[in-house]
Amino acid sequence: MCGIVGYVGARNVPSVLLGSLWRLEYRGYDSSGIAVISNSELIVRKVPGKLSELEELIKRKPVSGELGIGHTRWATHGVPQENNTHPLLDCNEEVALVVNGIIENYLTLKDELEAKGHIFRSLTDSEVIVHLIEQNISKGLTEAVRLTVKKLTGNFAFAAIRIGENKEIVCARHDAPLICCYNAEEAAVASDTSGVVSIFDEVIDIPNDSIVILGRGTCSILNFQGRETKTTPRKVMIEVKDIDKGHFPTFMLKEIYEQPKVLHNIVKERTSDSQIQLGAELSLSEAELKKISRILIQACGTSWHAGLIGKYIIEKFARIHTEVDISSEFRYRDAVLDNDTLVMAISQSGETADTIAGLREAKVKFLKVLSVVNVLQSSIHRESDGIIEIMAGPEIGVASTKAYTAEIVNLYFLALYLGRLRGFVSKTQLKEHFAALMEMPDQVEQILRLDNDIKDIAKEFCNSRDFLFLGRGLNYATALEGALKLKEISYINATGYAAGEMKHGPIALIDDKMPVVCVNPRSSVYDKMLNNIQEVVARKGIPISIVTKGDQRTRGASKYAISIPACHECISPILSVIPLQLLAHHIAALKGLDVDRPRNLAKSVTVE
Ligand code: M6R
Repeated sequence: MCGIVGYVGARNVPSVLLGSLWRLEYRGYDSSGIAVISNSELIVRKVPGKLSELEELIKRKPVSGELGIGHTRWATHGVPQENNTHPLLDCNEEVALVVNGIIENYLTLKDELEAKGHIFRSLTDSEVIVHLIEQNISKGLTEAVRLTVKKLTGNFAFAAIRIGENKEIVCARHDAPLICCYNAEEAAVASDTSGVVSIFDEVIDIPNDSIVILGRGTCSILNFQGRETKTTPRKVMIEVKDIDKGHFPTFMLKEIYEQPKVLHNIVKERTSDSQIQLGAELSLSEAELKKISRILIQACGTSWHAGLIGKYIIEKFARIHTEVDISSEFRYRDAVLDNDTLVMAISQSGETADTIAGLREAKVKFLKVLSVVNVLQSSIHRESDGIIEIMAGPEIGVASTKAYTAEIVNLYFLALYLGRLRGFVSKTQLKEHFAALMEMPDQVEQILRLDNDIKDIAKEFCNSRDFLFLGRGLNYATALEGALKLKEISYINATGYAAGEMKHGPIALIDDKMPVVCVNPRSSVYDKMLNNIQEVVARKGIPISIVTKGDQRTRGASKYAISIPACHECISPILSVIPLQLLAHHIAALKGLDVDRPRNLAKSVTVE
C-alpha cells in the first residue's frame, strides 16, 4: 500500500509532488507528506489525515526546492499521526525517505541501530531504512542505499534525498512496484504510472532488485550488486482523463457507469474474426491447455468472487475440475498440485501481496500460471507465464466495480475457449454465446437506467444496521459481492450467504428489521431460491429481490424488486451485480461517507 513519488526538474516541485500524490491517493490516504531540498535546507511538510490537509498546509506554509519526494500512507506499523507520517528523517535531519512496503526484520535492525545510538521518532517499520542509510552516508547516498538494501527483509520500494547531494533522488525496489521516467530536463519516480501521467509519456518499469539514481534529465539503474542494468521505456497508455472523475461525484459511480463501454470493448476484442481471441499474451499453447486436468484459481476480495463464477463456468463449458482459493489461504495450505494443474491468479491491481505469493507458490512447484490481470506490467503480469488482460481501464475507486464484471466476462471467454479445445462447446453453441455476450453491454445500460429507483430503495434502508445477501449457484458469488460492496463503503454489517445454507444458521438473524437482498434471476436454481425467499418472508424479513423482467412470482414475494433483462444464466452474475453496486454506492453517499476512500482500506493491498 502507500504511494511514493519523487521529482527533480525545473517545474514547481511541491505542486508536481502534490499532483502525483493526488493520483496515487487510492493506494492509501491516512496521512501524507513531502520533503524538498532547497539550497542546503531540507524542508518537510507532513500531516495525518486526507491529502487535502497536506495541500492546505503547503498553502499556509509554502515551500520550494530543486527536488523532492512525497508519500501518501496506509498505516501498517504505527497509527496515522505526524511522527509516523513519511517522509522520515535520519538523526541528523540530512536524509529524507519515503517508503512503500513492509520491512519484516525491522525489530532486529531497530535494536541494533538503537544500540549504536540512533534515535527513532516513529513506530513505523520503515524508519530503520533511513537510519541504515545514515550509517553509511559518508560513502554517498547511492552507496549507502546499496549497503542498506542488503540488510532488509520484506518487500519495499523507497526514494531518498539528501542535503548536499541536491541534484539526485536515489530509489530502490524489491518486490514492490516502482516506475521512473526522465527526459532531457527532468526525472520522476512513482509507485505507478498514474503518478507521472500528466508530465511524461514514456515510463521505465524498474526491474526488481534495482537502485535508481535520478537527476535532471538523467537516470541510471543499477542492480543490487552495483552493475548497470539496461531497460527499455514503454509508452504510457493512460491519459489524465482516464483517471479523472469527470462530472461524476465519485470514481465509484463513474466506474459503475463505464461498464457498458468496458464490456462492449472486451466482447468486441475477444470475438474478432468470429473466433475467441484471448490476446497475444496468453502464451500457453493449445497443447499445454489441452493437457490440463485441473485448474486452481486463487485471488482476493472481489477478484475471488469473480473466481467463484469462473469455477462454475469453466466446469460447465470445459468440464475441467476447478477449485477456487482465497490467496491468503492457498499460500499456506500446501495444496496438492500435480503437473497437469493450471494455477490461475485473478487481480485487478496485479500487486496484491497474497495473490503474488500464491503465484510464487505455484512457480516453486514448476507449475504454469495464467493470470487475469488489469494493470499491465504489474508484478502479477510480469511473474505469470501467460496473462489475459482484463481491459477494464484504470479503476480508482477502492470498491471494485468495472474490474469485477470485466473479470467475469474474460473468464467466460476462457471457459468457452477451453470448452472448444476439449470438444464440449460446438460451433453453434459458441455462436449463441457470442450473441448473448454481444447483447450484454446494452442490457447493463438498461439496468443503469433504474438508478433513481435504486436510490429510492437506498433511502429506505440507509439507516439499517445489518443486511443479508442471498444467492444460489452462480449468483451465490453475486450475494457475496453485493455484501462486500455494501460493507466496505457504508460500514453496514452485511453478510453474503448461499441461500440454501441460510437455514443452517443465519436465518436466526432475520426479523422484521432485516433487509434481505435476494438475487433470483431466471436460472436452474430459480425455484429453490424462491423457496428461500418465502422462508425470509415467513420470518418477517424484508426481501429486496433482483428478478428477471416479467417475473411476477419473485416480485410478488418481495417488498422491493429490481428487474434485469432476460439473459443466459451464465451472464446473470454480470447483470445482477449492477443494482447491488448502485445500492451500495447510494447508501454510502446518503450516509455522507467518503465512497472512494473508505476507512482503513486502500486500492491495492500490497501487504500480507
Ligand atoms: O487488485 P486485486 O483484484 O488483487 O484486489 C483484491 C482485493 O483487494 C479487492 O478486490 C478488494 O476486495 C476490493 N476493495 C473490493 O471492492
